Amino acid sequence: MTARHVGQARSRVEGRLKVTGQARYAAEYDAPDLLHGCLVPSRIARGRIASIDAAAALAIAGVVRVFTHADRGDVARFDFRWRDMVAPPGSPFRPLQSHEIQFADQPVALVVAETWEAARDAAALVEVTYEQAAHRTDLHQEVDNAYRPPRKRFGVPRPPKPRGDVDKAFAAEPFKLRARYGLPPQHHNPMEMFATTCVWEGDGRLTLYDKTQGATNVRSYIAKVFGLKKKNVRVVSAYVGGAFGVGLRPQANAFCAVMASLALKRSVRVCLSRREMFTTGYRPDTLHTIGLSCDSQGRLRSVTHDGVAATSRHEDYQENLVNWSGLLYRSDSVRLDYRLAKLDTCTPCDMRAPGAASGVNALECAIDELAFAAGIDPLEFRRRNYAERDANDDKPFTSKSLEACYAAAADAFDWRRRGLAPRSMREGGELVGWGMASGAWDAMTMLSNARVILKADASLLVETAASDIGTGTYTILAQIAADALGLPMEAVTVRLGDTDLPWAPVEGGSWTAASSGTAVTRACDDIRATLLRHARRMTGSPLADAKLDDVVFDGGRIARRGEPARGVGLGEAMRTAQVERIEGKGRAWPPVLRMMKYASYAQSAVFAEVRVDEELGVVRVTRVVCATAAGRILNPKTARSQILGGIAMGIGMALHEETVTDHRLGRVVNHNFADYHVPANADVGDIEVIFVDEHDAKTSPIGVKGLGEIGIVGAAAAVANAIFHATGKRVRDFPITIDKLLNTAEVA
Ligand code: MOS
Repeated sequence: MTARHVGQARSRVEGRLKVTGQARYAAEYDAPDLLHGCLVPSRIARGRIASIDAAAALAIAGVVRVFTHADRGDVARFDFRWRDMVAPPGSPFRPLQSHEIQFADQPVALVVAETWEAARDAAALVEVTYEQAAHRTDLHQEVDNAYRPPRKRFGVPRPPKPRGDVDKAFAAEPFKLRARYGLPPQHHNPMEMFATTCVWEGDGRLTLYDKTQGATNVRSYIAKVFGLKKKNVRVVSAYVGGAFGVGLRPQANAFCAVMASLALKRSVRVCLSRREMFTTGYRPDTLHTIGLSCDSQGRLRSVTHDGVAATSRHEDYQENLVNWSGLLYRSDSVRLDYRLAKLDTCTPCDMRAPGAASGVNALECAIDELAFAAGIDPLEFRRRNYAERDANDDKPFTSKSLEACYAAAADAFDWRRRGLAPRSMREGGELVGWGMASGAWDAMTMLSNARVILKADASLLVETAASDIGTGTYTILAQIAADALGLPMEAVTVRLGDTDLPWAPVEGGSWTAASSGTAVTRACDDIRATLLRHARRMTGSPLADAKLDDVVFDGGRIARRGEPARGVGLGEAMRTAQVERIEGKGRAWPPVLRMMKYASYAQSAVFAEVRVDEELGVVRVTRVVCATAAGRILNPKTARSQILGGIAMGIGMALHEETVTDHRLGRVVNHNFADYHVPANADVGDIEVIFVDEHDAKTSPIGVKGLGEIGIVGAAAAVANAIFHATGKRVRDFPITIDKLLNTAEVA
């Protein structure tokens, strides 16, 4: 393959469609006689519905029907049919199926009307009375009831077996730390809110335009729940306005739109409001008790990490929260524990780097604290404890370029100018602090299919059901396909997010570049072989005896390697063979053998500078340098955007983001962008993104590790550690807000 595009910075191929409003999102599709649905939220967090009076709502002009649990349709009875591809163990929430209330703002009715305005007005008039029961929504109150999940969630490893004598190693060493870190619940808050436009196609066929990270997941869920044939359900999610994990599971809007559509035999759209977005899943609040000890040389001797995470009463949501503490640094004595605590909330769900964002954050703060206690520079401390193997699974890494990340980022940041003592750097009225952390995220490849079609006009169509949630999938697949066949990127059209296309899993886990990229590469290989066969058969072909290894595909031609004149055009070969199209199929498999022998992670080092107003406690993150090693970088431009987004989210995690529940009511009180704070442009200073090149043929067939999630891992800890360096105050309860910095009782 001649790499003309792969590895080069390329703008998003769908960028123009997006900025000109031509890329349509789920709520923007229209249908004749479209009905609009609006949900009615529960006012209590736990209990049951005593009665629903919809008379006033039905009296509004244009209201067609009010659905409640009393008149639910013919749906699946057993949990397994309600469980989508990424569901954790338990009983999935079933919208409008029972009088039981499981969480505040749970939908209790769906008003369907001829207009959105009528539906919304009428929804406010639905009278619901409740029998309230006591709810529990405060994780801090439930720690004593925490339990080890009886059933494991697929794909989430359990904590490794303890190793070494942790208690002895803790007691014996001169420097130690035991501390508790807390992270509040966070919500993903993607720009695009959940919406489903369910188009009634007649003959029992439905097309769902749905905001989702997994069109195939929504299709199989809808088919199972409603007892429909998969071929009668098409799900389209061609463009997704951000998701960050909340779009992995089908949401109530999809269920409700289909339910109403089947009952009324009409097209129905159901959109969620920003407030309702707070009922769709969240990054669980977590508490981390971490114990570390090191010897006088700063060698880590023991690590304990006890994580407690929120889940709902009905499902055991799980993520890899604590295992990172057993593999990021070398230590002979490690004991990790992971427990869940049930709350009366909706089920938490994956949010960018689920588990790692929270668990590594706590660990990286603790490492900073221990390094300080031992009087060692935090970067030097990490270098002394560099792990050459994954000690949890006792496997080597396919590649680990963390040391190169440390070196590159520290150099760009000018870390050597840092003084060890807190409050030692000052500029104007501000305290300046420098902090750092490292991050890691799994490199995964999932079963994925792709189809590529070459036409005689030398245009290429690339198709897979995978979605592009804003990460750049359209663009990297166009780059890969263009290079594989030696065509310009303009010749390539990529179609994604549609169950009519070859099956792919949810876009998540940072695995899509490796998975769909591999499937597309193999589909192109398929075409290359067919093309060469045609070219060889041409009369007087200069390629008559050529093998695939002898030729290059470049400039729309196949030619002998090093002899560009000795070749034929792709179109010419196809016309001579009298074929109008060549179809290639490709499939990526999880690299099972590799996974048995090697561990593979993307790695990062992130350095942050903060300036803290000493009197007001206001923190500004003025500078971040992040170096990431994530295998082969297909497109430095979209890759950089992923890291920028991850770091911005990390800044939010450090300073702003917190879903606040009034535990007396069991309700989220800041379910809007005025009160739920995310970083705005002014909160994000200079960010320098560095990629450390890795040539890792083992990690995935195309050498890609993926980088949608690694950017957030460690970013909040780097900021927190910088705040400690600036102020001498260690705040272990995130986010680090002004009140906590000014409150001297919180001083470490
Ligand atoms: Mo990701 S949190 O698997 O979208």
